[in-house]
Amino acid sequence: MRIDILTLFPEMFAGPFDASIVHRAAERGIVEINVRNLRDWTHDRHHTADDTPFGGGPGMVLKPAPIFEAVDAIGTPDAEIVLLTPNGELLTQRIVQQLAEASHLILICGHYEGVDERVAEHLATRLVSIGDYVLSGGEIPAMVVTDAVARLLPGALGCADSVREEAHAEGLLEYPQYTRPAVYRGHPVPEVVRSGNHQGLARWKRREALRRTNERRPDLIRPEHREELGELGVDHPPA
Ligand code: 6GU
Repeated sequence: MRIDILTLFPEMFAGPFDASIVHRAAERGIVEINVRNLRDWTHDRHHTADDTPFGGGPGMVLKPAPIFEAVDAIGTPDAEIVLLTPNGELLTQRIVQQLAEASHLILICGHYEGVDERVAEHLATRLVSIGDYVLSGGEIPAMVVTDAVARLLPGALGCADSVREEAHAEGLLEYPQYTRPAVYRGHPVPEVVRSGNHQGLARWKRREALRRTNERRPDLIRPEHREELGELGVDHPPA
């Protein structure tokens, strides 16, 4: 997969992409990441990429031309063009999975004051937000999307990671994990985890995943989970 990131702050990406699974995936040729400065597609002496909003109001708005011209220059016919904006649809693992199907992602880093609406209307194929809070720009969201997508690409993870069922992929939070020592500061690892009883452990994992999802993220509980919660003897609020 190829990922092009369009930003006014390319220097922000050096650290995060020089470590971690993203770095390893790039080294293995699984993903090619290009961070591109939108100012390269400005034409005036001061490389102006933003301007004051029509009709007044605070802050500046990203001009459409550098963004459209950058996409003209680097776009491919089947590129998925994602505008990172707090006004987008909320990123979920499901959307990450969809993005990971693309051969080419173009991530446009917006700024809270705004991006000329014609980018959202006539250029982007998708508008994505990473949560209901406000960040100063789309750079950190672009890193989030890149990390979440890159680790799904075939070969990006060690096989130990990839075979494990993951939080959210299955619609539930993950069960608890433990490692040595068996007792730490007086806190023991649950007996069933160390018992070698595979059937008991599988049942415990499922129960814990359901229990903590019900407790922390009741919004993720679906009707079929309610029934299973009952069967497993987990307390749950009425539907
Ligand atoms: Cl994609 N951009 C900004 N500026 N803030 C955000 C966001 C994106 N997602 C959540 N907050």
